[in-house]
Amino acid sequence: MMTETEGAQTNEHEASMGDEEDGLSGPLLIEQLEGNGITSGDIRKLKAEGYHTIESIAYTPKKALLLVKGISEAKADKISLEAAKVVPLGFTTASEFHSRRSELICITTGSKQLDTLLGGGIETGSITEVFGEFRTGKSQLCHTLAVTCQLPIDMGGGEGKCLYIDTEGTFRPVRLVSIAQRYGLNPEDCLDNVAYARAYNAEHQFQLLNHAAQMMSESRFSCLIVDSIMSLYRTDYSGRAELSARQTHVAKYMRTLQRLADEFGIAVVITNQVVAQVDGASAMFNPDPKKPIGGNIIAHSSTTRLSFKKGRAEQRICKIYDSPCLPESECVFAIYEDGIGDPKTEDDDN
Ligand SMILES: Nc1ncnc2c1ncn2[C@@H]1O[C@H](COP(=O)(O)OP(=O)(O)OP(=O)(O)O)[C@@H](O)[C@H]1O
Ligand SMILES: [Mg+2]
Repeated sequence: MMTETEGAQTNEHEASMGDEEDGLSGPLLIEQLEGNGITSGDIRKLKAEGYHTIESIAYTPKKALLLVKGISEAKADKISLEAAKVVPLGFTTASEFHSRRSELICITTGSKQLDTLLGGGIETGSITEVFGEFRTGKSQLCHTLAVTCQLPIDMGGGEGKCLYIDTEGTFRPVRLVSIAQRYGLNPEDCLDNVAYARAYNAEHQFQLLNHAAQMMSESRFSCLIVDSIMSLYRTDYSGRAELSARQTHVAKYMRTLQRLADEFGIAVVITNQVVAQVDGASAMFNPDPKKPIGGNIIAHSSTTRLSFKKGRAEQRICKIYDSPCLPESECVFAIYEDGIGDPKTEDDDN
């Protein structure tokens, strides 16, 4: 009897996460390219390399398509051409772009102050990097977003599932339960809507994006989390000798993340560790200089960069480090049992 009810609930929830919700136009499945000289075999080859939507083809340089096994130069041209017919790639007016951007969904962080600082929350369609020392709440924010991204849009959510790539083994589903309860979501459904994968090495971390693309083409996801982006690279590539190979791989990874953000309109959130900065000039003005790792590649490919610092007790400070449209300012948030929230003041009883 119990199971019956649960089953019904799950199905209902699944349906609401399907691709038929109004207002959100989903990505175009790559199968629609078939015909006009493009065979189902070609489609199969593209899918094997992680291309599941027409957008993914349209945003990819021909050079990359040529790397797909069994795709000839003529075929790659044909495929690009057909994709460009359906996906707009040309110029648009700033006002049209502005109205499209104003439709962009932001996902709530759980803290009103932090959302305000971010101009509404974590932006979809782009990459947000969160860096800071250990215990500053990076993973706690990820856990909160894994739940809030499922909320309806009018509650600050993205009405989609979450994909969580964990490279450090710090994902704790039990944390999601208390966060789900805070928002009145059924904890079981909430956990079912988080696709979790533990990455074991840098190569695996990359392969998981292939699976991610496939899953995102099948149902509506609103958030992709990578916690943390660089830890496996640090262990898999060591020393100066491997630095350039490491950066090439990281660049490819970041490009794929950006492609997924564009293709599926999801919010991509990555966390990053910091290391002591040793160059003289910055040490002179800052007594404890720390910088995120990954160098220019990570710096340039994240759209918004946030720096987390420890404050008093459960309080943490978030500073906007780099953003295309937000000033360098900061705010205080807090970590609670039920996720990220606003700091409690004495005269506040909730
Ligand atoms: N259930 C909880 N209730 C309240 N606060 C918690 C809870 N669980 C963890 N915290 C707080 O979150 C902090 C850990 O934050 P988090 O794991 O997000 O750090 P991090 O920035 O990811 O660190 P690292 O770099 O080590 O991964 C703990 O120090 C604790 O203060
Ligand atoms: Mg962490």
